[in-house]
Amino acid sequence: MHFYVVTIFPPMFDALLSVGLVGQAARKGTIRVIPVSPRDFAVDKHGSVDDAPYGGGHGMVMRPGPITDALDWIDACEEKPPHRVLLTPQGAPFNQTTARRLAQHHAVSLVCGRYEGFDERIRSCVDEEISIGDYVMTGGEVAAMAVIEASSRLLPGVLGSIESTYDESHADGSLEYPQYTRPPEFRGMKVPDVLLSGDHKKISIWRKDQSAQRTAERRPDLFARLNARATKRGA
Ligand SMILES: C[S@@+](CC[C@H](N)C(=O)[O-])C[C@H]1O[C@@H](n2cnc3c(N)ncnc32)[C@H](O)[C@@H]1O
Repeated sequence: MHFYVVTIFPPMFDALLSVGLVGQAARKGTIRVIPVSPRDFAVDKHGSVDDAPYGGGHGMVMRPGPITDALDWIDACEEKPPHRVLLTPQGAPFNQTTARRLAQHHAVSLVCGRYEGFDERIRSCVDEEISIGDYVMTGGEVAAMAVIEASSRLLPGVLGSIESTYDESHADGSLEYPQYTRPPEFRGMKVPDVLLSGDHKKISIWRKDQSAQRTAERRPDLFARLNARATKRGA
């Protein structure tokens, strides 16, 4: 899968690609992350990509031209144009379902804003808008990395076993059960006996119960949705 990132700070992606499973996936060629700077598509010799907002106000706004030209250039790099995503705090909340959906694309273009955001007309040139949460960052790069992290680990060959994604948090709308490793006792806290029992049926039941309990306690919104789904299925 190819991730093109339209960013004025391409070096921010060096760290992402040099460590961990995403770095390994990039070295193996399972994914490619290609930063593209809109400055290379600026019309003046200073590489300006921003300008003052019409109507006045604080800060600068990203011009539409360099970004759309960068996106068109990216389209020409692929047989089929990549799916275009604008990263913005005004977008749809990013979640596991979106990560799974994006991972179906052969290529995705992720547009990172800076300054006070984009000229509004850029919105008409993308397929969807994504937010990684109800807060405002200085740029879209960290949001792009979140999308790359979450989507690429769902691709075959990125994780040691794809099965590990099946019962983790948000895979089916619930949170994962508690996990433990050695030692069996740490600072007075013991590993639950059932996990040391070797009884896989009992362990599986315990994990399902813990997952439901944890979801109800920590994310009543998710728990309500799970119950509604179960009721609908039963109806
Ligand atoms: C300072 S923000 C601009 C915010 C904009 N003035 C607004 O109020 O919606 C600059 C850029 O950071 C990125 N960004 C900031 N917060 C984000 C979030 N929660 N999710 C995704 N992208 C975000 C976007 O690309 C945005 O254009």
